[in-house]
Amino acid sequence: MFDRAAEDLGNVILLEHVNLRVPDLEIASAFYVHALGGTRDPFIDHGPDLVWFNFGFQQFHVPRAVKPDVLRGSIGLVVPDLDEREAALVAISGHLASTAFRFERDDMGIDVLGPWGNRFRCLPADREVQMGRGLAMVEFAVPLGSVAGIARFYTEALGAVAVTTGPTCVVAIGHGQRLRFVETTEPLADYDGHHLAIYVQDFSGPHRWLAERGLIVEESDEHQYRFNWITDPVSGEPLFEVEHEVRSTRHPLYGRPLVNRNLAQRIPGYVPGADAAT
Ligand SMILES: [Fe+2]
Repeated sequence: MFDRAAEDLGNVILLEHVNLRVPDLEIASAFYVHALGGTRDPFIDHGPDLVWFNFGFQQFHVPRAVKPDVLRGSIGLVVPDLDEREAALVAISGHLASTAFRFERDDMGIDVLGPWGNRFRCLPADREVQMGRGLAMVEFAVPLGSVAGIARFYTEALGAVAVTTGPTCVVAIGHGQRLRFVETTEPLADYDGHHLAIYVQDFSGPHRWLAERGLIVEESDEHQYRFNWITDPVSGEPLFEVEHEVRSTRHPLYGRPLVNRNLAQRIPGYVPGADAAT
């Protein structure tokens, strides 16, 4: 017998971008393009103060700001080839030497500290997340005693599939992406305004739930709203703050094809017609 339920998705079907502000877009480009292997989005021009970097079907949105955003956790990024990525990280090290940038490889991946202290983990392509490159996971460190309420929030408010194991809650997104919330005894930094964008199938149900509790912070347009606080549905207690840009699948950018580079293309050994990758 087949487990038909194993094919079901929860209501959150795509984690599409993470938005992290930076004080220097030249350094940011060196990091996202050369260190991590992303591709500047060539089609939508935001002017000189915002760049989108493509990674598979996901993006990092990187606006210029006075102070950098530092996500209170880490970002899991699937890369096509760990050896290739390690070589690229070595090659760009000198250019980023005056920043917080560093990296360390282990048996399973490469931990990368970004120029302003954001933590990334480069992971090999994985059938579980069904992507050859892209944004697989965002992990947040959260206060002690909060993960059960966080799981209830994503289940009840957003219709997601969320599982709690000990001090960790995993929220399933689409075909294998996830948000992870891990309780920590360490002091947590104040929230600085970074955000993530998700697409949901049922758009009005979560909106109703959030609006009834006064949690909507922006009615962006007909296809998008935002909320900041993850609250316990039982007690109403605010548990963790991170802005969610919530989009419907009727949003014009849903499913937009993103340009990705074939990172193997060089002048020596150049293969005509093979510049693009998925
Ligand atoms: Fe955004």
